[in-house]
Amino acid sequence: MIRWTSVILAGGKGTRMKSPLPKVLHPVAGLPLVSRVIASVKGAGCQENRVVVGYGESLVRQVIEPQGAFCYVQKEQLGTADAVKSAGYDTLKGFVLILNGDHPLIKAEDLKELMARFEKGSAALAVVTVKLKKPGNYGRIIRHKGEVQAIVEAKDASAATLKVNEVNTGIYLTRGEILQELLPKIKNQNTKGEYYLTDLIELCRQKKYTVEGYEAHKRVSFGVNSQAELATATGLIYRRKLLQLMDEGVLIIDPNCTYIEDTVKIGSGSVIYPGCFLRGNTSIGSFSVIEPHCFITSCEIHESVQIRMGSHLEKSVVKSRAIVGPYARLRPETVLEDEVQVGNFVELKKTLMKKGAKAAHLTYLGDAEIGESTNIGCGTITCNYAADRKKYKTLIGNNVFVGSDCQFVAPISIGDGAVIGSGSTITKDVPAKALAVARGRQFVKENYQPKTAHENASSAENIAEKTEQKE
Ligand code: UD1
Ligand code: MG
Repeated sequence: MIRWTSVILAGGKGTRMKSPLPKVLHPVAGLPLVSRVIASVKGAGCQENRVVVGYGESLVRQVIEPQGAFCYVQKEQLGTADAVKSAGYDTLKGFVLILNGDHPLIKAEDLKELMARFEKGSAALAVVTVKLKKPGNYGRIIRHKGEVQAIVEAKDASAATLKVNEVNTGIYLTRGEILQELLPKIKNQNTKGEYYLTDLIELCRQKKYTVEGYEAHKRVSFGVNSQAELATATGLIYRRKLLQLMDEGVLIIDPNCTYIEDTVKIGSGSVIYPGCFLRGNTSIGSFSVIEPHCFITSCEIHESVQIRMGSHLEKSVVKSRAIVGPYARLRPETVLEDEVQVGNFVELKKTLMKKGAKAAHLTYLGDAEIGESTNIGCGTITCNYAADRKKYKTLIGNNVFVGSDCQFVAPISIGDGAVIGSGSTITKDVPAKALAVARGRQFVKENYQPKTAHENASSAENIAEKTEQKE
């Protein structure tokens, strides 16, 4: 089997980003620049992936190691050839793919194609090129009778060379032994005083090794160097995802204001309104509607669900035909079974609402289980956080009727079919089918004429006491 190792260059500081975050950690549509490149090389079939890191090493390491990539530290940024040397180049075996860590638009398919071409060919080195109307600061590709002779950096180029519109994308394909032979020969005699990886081409030619230029899609050359370019890349990646979803039959009302990360899955016939952010491992079944301005992170939403305007959902499950919002908040580990209804200004955390249960307005349910077809009245609160700083559970059975404005002081359990009177603060368990009321009694004194404010208050207390005694 052919073995490929990628070497991803990410040692630069990214000065033009003007941000304290290392450049390659800037997110592009939810995923750091370097993570996108790692995903592409892995998708293309590279078995081992080495990332050259300089600035912000410990932060970059935290992001790339969970992706299975290895971190190599380049102590000083002495140029792209030195960066490859820093990647343990003497241990590179088989085929090697070198690319920049800040080119987020490269697709796995792009790389796969290039790798297959290199495997079939006989070149010692292939450099990936694109033709640009405005070649800017890219290294210019110098060909003679079609063969690549050299790459000249814009800073070192003559006026005539600057006119060449075929440029170096910074992607190279070669073999470990070529790097082991030639990298030590690269010198830093150029305008920037850096060790240029592009000098490999001339060194190959001196050895009569074949160098090929593979022309690729323009997107592979798109590098991020500034916040404006970051925003452009982000926009392009969102657009790419929206086109894919629309192609699969998802209704996107306005692709200019809809933000769906490429990890998200949506079934056909679902409708996504403008202003929504759908992130992480979110999946949405068919025929669901996500109304405007919903922010949904890593949720499992089944079919025919309505998420109404302005709702915020995180790591939760919403099953078929459930309705959430408007303005609802589902915090992690919430599960809403089929046909559950959660209305406006309801917050749920670590709560299971079983089939057909309802909490229609102004409610907080945390660390709770709500049984089938149970109705939670407006203004209900589970008091889950106790003075001992621990969280306790509220268990409410099936077909329970909770009146408005109730509090459940956890740990507490309410049996099936119980009725809880409005305004109750429930502190003791309630058995099945029982009625529980825990609130101040109302008294009525007819023809009551208050005198002074003080008398008014103290006489009200007396009257209440007397009324209670009588009863
Ligand atoms: C490089 C190429 C240029 C090409 C362009 C494509 C060279 C000499 N030039 O130029 O021909 O058109 O990329 O984008 O290679 N890096 C390190 N360590 C270093 C220096 C750079 O890790 O010491 C990394 C950077 O973080 C970056 C990549 O290498 O990801 C490219 O470096 P950069 O300085 O951007 O090179 P360019 O001048 O753009
Ligand atoms: Mg660059």
